Amino acid sequence: MTIDRKERAMDQQKLKELVQDMSLIEKINQLLQVTSGFFIDDVELTGPIRENGITEQSIAQAGSVIGLLGAKKYKEIQDAYIKNHPHNIPLLIMLDVINGFRTIFPIPLAQGATFEPELSKRCAQIAAKESAVSGVHVTFAPMVDLVRDARWGRVMESTGEDTKLNSDFAIAMVEGFQGTNVGEEYSIAACVKHFAAYGAPNGGRDYNTVELSENTLRGYYLPAYEAAVKAGVEMVMTSFNTLNGIPSTGNQWLNRNVLRDEMGFDGVLISDWAAIEELQYHGYAKDRKEAAGLAMNAGVDIDMMTGIYSKNLESLIEDGTVKEELLDEAVLRILNLKNKLGLFENPYKDADEEKEKEIILCEEHRKVSLEAAEKSFVLLKNDGILPLKKREKIALIGPFVSEKEIYGVWSMLGRPEDTVSIAEAADKVRMDYEFTFAKGCNILGAEDSNLIPDQHVQEPSKEDEERMLQEAVEAAKNADKIILAIGEHRRMSGESASRSDLTLPKIQYKLLDAIYEVNPNIAVIIFTGRPLDLREVSEKSKAILNVWLPGTEGGTAILNTLINKVSPSGKLPMSFPYCVGQVPVHYNEYFTGRPYDPKTGGKEYRSNYRDIPNTPLYPFGYGLSYAKFQYDDIKLSKDIMSIGETIDAYVTVKNVGEYAGTETVQLYIRDCIGSVVRPRKELKGYQKVTLQPGEAKNVTFEITEEMLRFCKDDLSFGSEKGEFHVYLGTDSSTEEYVSFNLN
Ligand code: NOJ
Repeated sequence: MTIDRKERAMDQQKLKELVQDMSLIEKINQLLQVTSGFFIDDVELTGPIRENGITEQSIAQAGSVIGLLGAKKYKEIQDAYIKNHPHNIPLLIMLDVINGFRTIFPIPLAQGATFEPELSKRCAQIAAKESAVSGVHVTFAPMVDLVRDARWGRVMESTGEDTKLNSDFAIAMVEGFQGTNVGEEYSIAACVKHFAAYGAPNGGRDYNTVELSENTLRGYYLPAYEAAVKAGVEMVMTSFNTLNGIPSTGNQWLNRNVLRDEMGFDGVLISDWAAIEELQYHGYAKDRKEAAGLAMNAGVDIDMMTGIYSKNLESLIEDGTVKEELLDEAVLRILNLKNKLGLFENPYKDADEEKEKEIILCEEHRKVSLEAAEKSFVLLKNDGILPLKKREKIALIGPFVSEKEIYGVWSMLGRPEDTVSIAEAADKVRMDYEFTFAKGCNILGAEDSNLIPDQHVQEPSKEDEERMLQEAVEAAKNADKIILAIGEHRRMSGESASRSDLTLPKIQYKLLDAIYEVNPNIAVIIFTGRPLDLREVSEKSKAILNVWLPGTEGGTAILNTLINKVSPSGKLPMSFPYCVGQVPVHYNEYFTGRPYDPKTGGKEYRSNYRDIPNTPLYPFGYGLSYAKFQYDDIKLSKDIMSIGETIDAYVTVKNVGEYAGTETVQLYIRDCIGSVVRPRKELKGYQKVTLQPGEAKNVTFEITEEMLRFCKDDLSFGSEKGEFHVYLGTDSSTEEYVSFNLN
């Protein structure tokens, strides 16, 4: 089909006229999203599917599709769709492109560990480019839910526990996906999710109830969504959870008052998968029809996947429950997005079979994936065993040595054959080191089968298990050092992957113990989608390098780090708890009226646990380097700040170690007295410095009054006069401070 592009270009007036010209059914169907399966495979429309509102007609006019088609198929489908559509409106294609399309970057939590939002912006740009040439217009990312509970499997999709860090990454990712305007070549629309506070489910159990005071919600949880809105995000997704008793997807106050009126969001609001229908199961709507009315009145524009609007909106409009103007507004927002993407002029946008071949997984993209992985690794412990030295005899042991599925569950197009394993990367430097390899065990053993859904693991026989273990022990005996690569199976984190325990699969402790017995020179590499309880691993190892789920270039990045081609520089974006009994645990907690100070002791009638410390094993912001950094001369440009003024905070950072390295210098502020109590400290800035051995650099942060604002009791934001402590250091546990007063 040839399309006269100029004639089809739309302005606001034309779009409004178009909406006016559409029939009621056509308009309702714009709000329907179905899976690509309905277009690709001839899915049989069974009785129940039709009954739910998904019919030949609604599919033929569905406003959007979730799923990948690929450029060629996409063009065919788009052509046929436009041709048959009564107003020749183009179809919108959406997909979960989370940490990469086909070139896979580290999971978002790992990206948080880079403390480098600009790098995530580049990752998002690449993901957008690979998606765009494959015919994708919208990604369901970034997920900016603040997370404090490592039991929740979806912490892997967030950038962590800190409001500022989350907000910075939210902006960077939106800018990366969208460019300066989604109509540009290789830009796609972003969708910030899950609005709101999905990251705080009770007990860390996915989809569970969220109860937060409005002060906490506004002060800590909402800012990252708002940052994305201010950055121009085109779409927002509702969350599955109830928030203080009201399911988000039916919450008018949340979606209309807070999101649209207060934050100024004027883009498309989409439900999460079947979340409108689920209003019934929450016990909030008596049936599907009522659920559809509640969601529509709450301002939800697109129904992801259930046909609930297609089935019920007509009668809801007829009986007056939903005003047709609301429908028109929703349709206009959807058409507006299609128009911004340029689909009316050029329905193919960037989809191009040739470019798919040329761009996807190209060398340039792989390089950025490598850089992101290297910068995301967090060295949790090192007594000097790392980096490896040339000629050493190294046993590479563990189920992750040859594992290639190291990219997290949301990397739907990630393929093992595209990925570099540790073993493959080691092979490239084998002339300099003496490597031996042994798997030792599978990621999961017989006793671990409850850790992932339906049996995806092939259980080895008892003999095979014993043989693998013995081979590993032999390799360990003959080595100078052991690199033990262990961790969570990729399906142990992500949606619907909550855990009540944060230790490793049992079989892996068996391996650790067996090796430790014959050779304690162990450096552990941890693969994980969440903070883990690493107490035992820490006791039995001399170094721990946390590599998360690192993506396509994971193996190369790990090898480069082990041999000090790069020094680790990642910092934890989420506390690693001492044990599961401590969670939710986060650095910016309040003092309580009976704070416990381990230095002065006296546990009785103080806020503490009898059996474990209050502090996590590894706190937020923590991460070592092969270099050794020393902080000196922390000072302020003045000790009084008047409104409208700023203060500079200075520190000198010196590398007193023997290797070069990059440090993330962190600025935390404590507001000593507040009309609403203030956290122990809050991250307000971070800067990276790279230092050669012996080198020192001065680092300066500007402190503004804006940084001192917080959510007050009347829910307004503002600063309060009084004393502030300024901490400049290597992580959130830093204790040394200087102070100033705000006048
Ligand atoms: C459900 C998830 O909660 C959401 O994050 C995702 O974008 C949708 N499914 C679509 O896959």
